[in-house]
Amino acid sequence: MSATDFRLTAVRTFGSPLYVYDIEAIRKRFDLLIDLLGGRFGISYAVKANPNTGLLKAIRDKVVTFDASALAEVERAMATGIGAERITFSGPGKRRVEIERAVELGIGELVLESLADARIAAEAARRLGRVQHVLVRINPASAPRAFGVNMSGKPSQFGVDEEDMEPVLKEIAAMPGLDLIGFHIYSGTNSLNPEAIADNFSIFAAIFRKAAGMVGRKPKKLIFGSGFGLPYLPEDAPLDIEEVARRVNPIVDDLRADPTFAGAELALEMGRWLVGPAGWLLSSVVAEKHSRGTDFRICDAGFNNQLAACGMMGSVIRRNWRVSNISAPDAPEATYTLTGPLCTTIDVIATRITMPALAIDDVIAIENSGAYGLTASPSRFISHPEPREVIWTGNGFQDVTESLLNHWSIPAHGITQGLVQEEL
Ligand SMILES: Cc1ncc(COP(=O)(O)O)c(C=O)c1O
Repeated sequence: MSATDFRLTAVRTFGSPLYVYDIEAIRKRFDLLIDLLGGRFGISYAVKANPNTGLLKAIRDKVVTFDASALAEVERAMATGIGAERITFSGPGKRRVEIERAVELGIGELVLESLADARIAAEAARRLGRVQHVLVRINPASAPRAFGVNMSGKPSQFGVDEEDMEPVLKEIAAMPGLDLIGFHIYSGTNSLNPEAIADNFSIFAAIFRKAAGMVGRKPKKLIFGSGFGLPYLPEDAPLDIEEVARRVNPIVDDLRADPTFAGAELALEMGRWLVGPAGWLLSSVVAEKHSRGTDFRICDAGFNNQLAACGMMGSVIRRNWRVSNISAPDAPEATYTLTGPLCTTIDVIATRITMPALAIDDVIAIENSGAYGLTASPSRFISHPEPREVIWTGNGFQDVTESLLNHWSIPAHGITQGLVQEEL
């Protein structure tokens, strides 16, 4: 079956809107990357990119560690049989109960974003009579160039600023209950430029050397935030991953040649590049309108289901993503404004996009939707049904639909008295 065939079959079977993940294609991306890196790095998969437990299960054997950014992500990973020791927990604004629970669960490494995180973790570990492995997240003083998103070189809520790290690292290194085993840097993402990615890795290596020197330790673990991007826009060329490996591998080898780093385990932390391209949001055309010179096609998915594709996840200017007509790919071309079903003017998927003509019930595929798709979208807005999620195995489909809405196993922050349930 061709790619178009299985996506159409999926919509006929499960209806739309629908997320489809081609799991073999995802696994092949892991294999390609692992191969190109030649064993230098283990993959740390960022659960936030796509936390679907069916998908997590299907990539378990390719991933060394899973990086969670909320306790609920830790729990989701563990629910698929991933041991706590294979999970790292990063992210700003961790709640006290999240840190305490993570320590209690025996999380592999806690990624400390601040001294405050460290104090809570140390207290919890001492109470349990444990020693918790921790990494300190360092926020570089310089910003990576040619990155779609950057979190460094400016005021930021993420990590410990490089300029301030010395006293913080020394204090954490001396805290009973914690074992500072290494460092973590994730300073930006969505770069399509191998040279910029390599430059960024050189910045990481220099900071890791500086940090290790400050605490006088040989790190056991270093996490490199990959920053690998995707060609979201029609004019973007995919990241040349071979070129990235050619440029990055020597930087890693050079770091490893230093006896301080010879024994360190290295992790490449990433999400979107691995799972984004082999996922599509499929949506049907439910209405059409010709208005004042513009042909509209109104679809059953909009920003409620794919916020980023509609230009609302950090983009300053909304630009058309890659969208295709999978029902009639050979139809003569026409130009449309594609919208979602929401009762607001900002629910636009594509403006003046030229593509094979779309009729009612035809299905469009929004590309690069395997990462930051449903999980990053405000699906409650206007109460349309949530899309189902299915995995295409190459032979058939696995329905992996689940609700993310009620996933709290810890109390909400700030409760000082018992909850009162009133009869309505
Ligand atoms: C700490 C951390 N690690 C990993 C990632 C994954 O990034 P990407 O999906 O762009 O590879 C993110 C994304 O924001 C992050 O904040």
